[in-house]
Amino acid sequence: AAVKGGPLARTKFRSVAPNRRDAVVLPDGFDHNVVISWGDPVVEGAPAWSPYDLTLDAVKKTFGYNNDYVSVVPLSGDAALMTVNHEYDDQTLMYPTGAYTEEQMAWFGIYSHGLSVVQIKRGLVPGSWYREKNLAKATKNRRINADTTFRATGPAAGHPLLQTAADPSGTAIKGTLNNCSGGTTPWGTVLSGEENFNQYFNTEGTVPTGVTLDDGSTLTNAYTRYGIAKSGSDPRKWHKYDDRFDLEAEAHEVHRFGWIVEIDPMKPEQAPRKHTMLGRFKHEGACAVISGDKRAVVYMGDDERGDYLYKFVSADKYDERASAAARRHNKTLLTKGTLFVAKVTGNDVGTPTAPYDGTGEWLPLTSDTQSFVPGMTVAEVLVFTRQAADLVGPTKMDRPEDVEVNKVNGKVYAALTNNSNRGSTFPADEANPVTSCGTRTSPGAPLVTQSGNRNGYVLEITPGSDNHARRTFTWDLFLVCGDPDSPETYFAGYDKSKVSRISCPDNVTFDAAGNLWIATDGAPTPLGQNDGLFRVPTAGAERGHVQCFLTVPKGAETCGPLMYDGDKSLFFAPQHPGEISGAVFESPLSTWPNTHDFPRPSVCVAYQAR
Ligand code: FEO
Ligand code: CA
Ligand code: CA
Ligand code: CA
Repeated sequence: AAVKGGPLARTKFRSVAPNRRDAVVLPDGFDHNVVISWGDPVVEGAPAWSPYDLTLDAVKKTFGYNNDYVSVVPLSGDAALMTVNHEYDDQTLMYPTGAYTEEQMAWFGIYSHGLSVVQIKRGLVPGSWYREKNLAKATKNRRINADTTFRATGPAAGHPLLQTAADPSGTAIKGTLNNCSGGTTPWGTVLSGEENFNQYFNTEGTVPTGVTLDDGSTLTNAYTRYGIAKSGSDPRKWHKYDDRFDLEAEAHEVHRFGWIVEIDPMKPEQAPRKHTMLGRFKHEGACAVISGDKRAVVYMGDDERGDYLYKFVSADKYDERASAAARRHNKTLLTKGTLFVAKVTGNDVGTPTAPYDGTGEWLPLTSDTQSFVPGMTVAEVLVFTRQAADLVGPTKMDRPEDVEVNKVNGKVYAALTNNSNRGSTFPADEANPVTSCGTRTSPGAPLVTQSGNRNGYVLEITPGSDNHARRTFTWDLFLVCGDPDSPETYFAGYDKSKVSRISCPDNVTFDAAGNLWIATDGAPTPLGQNDGLFRVPTAGAERGHVQCFLTVPKGAETCGPLMYDGDKSLFFAPQHPGEISGAVFESPLSTWPNTHDFPRPSVCVAYQAR
């Protein structure tokens, strides 16, 4: 068969070796540049930004912190429009020690979240892109932050559980939080997942213990199932400075986060939306495709140990015509349909052995008009989706991250990043088979066996009858990640002596040849190496040949990734340089990209060297 795909899909390269460098490392023959960094101006009139002399006005108008998902849609000529998520703030890494008060850092943090829409333009070197510095020309640039009102759509919009003192309508929500991965829809809008929203809500008082449902019964574990608790450990203390983050003062504000949001980058005047029809959980991202019968199908993961894979199928059909009316119609598709959760069953009898494979079923939770979960209304299933799913028997997975469709072979790929409790809290099954694994503390350190699944998997789903709307599928574990020297690893049967060490798959994308590109988040902990971006063919003799294409600066996770412009440009976004995991930091701290004496999360683009 003819090899399709552009230069980044076709070109052979020598895998980048595991390392701990404070740099972006690419194979010989490739270059990269920084497109935009934390603090760069986004909208006209943005004041000068300096981390040493920060103002709230500057934070509101400049590129936010911890870039994650990257979307690019074309404008005319050499211009394009890039949309980027700002997942979370980190007071330790963002500010000079002692420079700001707790209250200043709280407000800087609140406004460091959200999204940026940024016009970019081609550079002179083919494949390179830069931000448009003439902001008068960048008329669609937009900084979505806590001042931006999102409109809730779908069956739970306006429900009493979403009503607050400040918004009795239950439909007008200020801001978006912890936006992790996302997707660009076939109709050109951007979806973004609100992930670990729970951490921002605290109280000095008493956390509400129950939520009253429509039938008068009480859901007592509604907060704990989502990890919402008086932690005291969150350093932000937003609840002290804005009542809506105080669980005792405002018990419902937390129900207004944990959704999939949709932004139309081409329409800066339009309010972004939160789609309640897609359920509320720790949304990693959302990948929208059109099924054989023209429905919009959205694949989603809930990133928590032992949580689930989800799918939404629209009630209405996609209108493929290139008209403004068709686009307006398509922008309503995510408001009505059916939400499903995945049951993943293995073929093996007894102890599962590689290759791991089996069958699966999408279990319906609710449509926009009818709940399929006994005792819960449509709106309750959507607001407390985790509890609703618990009642129908889906498969507890090892932290579902990105779920994306490979348009070349029609299969769905889900990154299951890790689960240190597999084999203890969570018994093994064929889809989650690893209960001990090989780890290293540095690239040259000896292999040590640890309990649990610390390196993750990539699950390959084949939809029934080639149709994403079908309720059945078959599946296999395409990769059992880790150090190929360790026996539990599996690379689709490929020769293990030729593959790169890979751990904690997180965001994924594809090139036009159907190769899977895997961004990792967390490799420093189990493998003692920087995170990276890996290319792996999904078909042919090279299927399973995982190669490290680049590594990101120490402490960073690799976000994006996005293949653009006929596989000539590869956007990737080093997030949280300097932070290994949570409150664990590199020493000495990263200074990448070396514009200050501390790190700045940035979006980059890689391309063939001239
Ligand atoms: Fe924000 Fe699931 O990674
Ligand atoms: Ca098997
Ligand atoms: Ca992620
Ligand atoms: Ca992750």
